[in-house]
Order: sequence, then C-alpha cells, then structure tokens
Amino acid sequence: MIVCHCTGISDHDIRAAVDWMRRADPETIITPGKIYHALGHRADCGGCMPLFLDTMRMCASLEVPTTPPAIGAVSRQAIPILRQGRHHEGRSQGN
Ligand code: FES
Repeated sequence: MIVCHCTGISDHDIRAAVDWMRRADPETIITPGKIYHALGHRADCGGCMPLFLDTMRMCASLEVPTTPPAIGAVSRQAIPILRQGRHHEGRSQGN
C-alpha cells in the first residue's frame, strides 16, 4: 500500500527501512526524516505523516531495546560506595 503519494513510499518500504536501521544501530532513534533519507526521498506536502507514523509504530523493531543488564550491574556496585561516603566529586574540602 502506498503511504506517501508524493514520493511513492509504501508500507513495505517503511517496515524494511525501520528493520534495516534497527539492525545497523540498535540504539538509534528512528524518525520519519531518517526513513525518508534512507529511502532517498524528502517529505513534500506532509499529508502522509499520520499514516506514515502509524506504519512506523506497527513495526516491532521501532522501539529502542531496554537498558542492557551490564549497565544496571555497574550502578548497583556504586551504591555501597556512595552510602559509605567515600565518594566525592573531587572538590577541595577546605576554603
Ligand atoms: S504524501 Fe507524503 S509528503 Fe506528500
């Protein structure tokens, strides 16, 4: 189904572009502008934007994956150090 009549972009093109971008960079924020750019086009009238966004939202790979567990583990290691008061920002203690 053609989503953007100005450029001839179809729902299949949008889904393929979203999947390709997610594989290329798992943490990227995917926007309509990036999809237009990846497909070699620019938005013209913008009349397709509601349907364009709905098509993007139906893609399972649109969302950025949640925080990897390794980052959470580092944060948990820092909590005891902060509670003991040994952590400071490096500012001098006197005047
Ligand atoms: S219909 Fe998509 S820019 Fe005009």
